[in-house]
Amino acid sequence: MAEGIPVAKVGEIAEDEAIVVPRATAGTGDDIAVFYSAGEYSAIDNTCTHEEASLARGWIENGTVECPLHASSFCLRDGKVLGPPAQRGVTAHVITIDGDQLLLIPDPSRLV
Ligand code: FES
Repeated sequence: MAEGIPVAKVGEIAEDEAIVVPRATAGTGDDIAVFYSAGEYSAIDNTCTHEEASLARGWIENGTVECPLHASSFCLRDGKVLGPPAQRGVTAHVITIDGDQLLLIPDPSRLV
């Protein structure tokens, strides 16, 4: 069996949409948002580094997400902050595909 936590099937996340993997499932300190945008799957911590907002509920476009609360933007590939008011990026996690299954490999720094 491939390494990783099964989170969705290929095609279940629509273009520029996201799902949330609860922290209890991921074993991490934050929920993880899994995105499909610009033809790629990606995963980052779900909580904005500015205040408490779910990035999965943000505006997703062309490999970036804009926070729904104050519009900080983040790169979905590496979690870097692209626009204020957030000053810090979010942790990026690894998504692999095994057949039609998306597998999440949380970044070890975020495991609890
Ligand atoms: S909570 Fe995300 S920008 Fe303020």
